[in-house]
Amino acid sequence: MTKTWKPRITLFQCQWCLYAEADQHWVDHQLPNNIHLVKVPCTGKISPLYILNAIQGGTDGVLISGCLPEKCHFKEGNLGARRQLDEFSRFLNYIGYEKDRVRFAWLDLQERGRIQQELAVMEKNLLELGPADKLTTRLPLQEGEAA
Ligand code: FES
Repeated sequence: MTKTWKPRITLFQCQWCLYAEADQHWVDHQLPNNIHLVKVPCTGKISPLYILNAIQGGTDGVLISGCLPEKCHFKEGNLGARRQLDEFSRFLNYIGYEKDRVRFAWLDLQERGRIQQELAVMEKNLLELGPADKLTTRLPLQEGEAA
């Protein structure tokens, strides 16, 4: 691994949780190239398949940024997402995508600078873990075929 390696991060961001204007502008227009933004109407709308798709596309880590538990616009969409994605990250860990590569962050509407902090923590953790092994789809072996 070279010293210039930058982990690829997919940021799933609830559209309601970043109202601090400067932060929203930074996310919309100044994200570093290694961060791919996916805005969602609520973290409760994130299918585990979206995450799997990002991983198959080569992302080294996934950060899910949503509203505080009591401030979700869809009542408990974020709590359901948290439960579902915790379960799913256990499955990902089982198939070789380390659990620490998927993080969840609750952001309050006016927490200035928090998204940058969360991304910095994510990037630091991923630098320690190194690049993720790309998950590939493999056809099952046919009878008599060598593994
Ligand atoms: Fe933001 Fe549900 S509306 S997480």
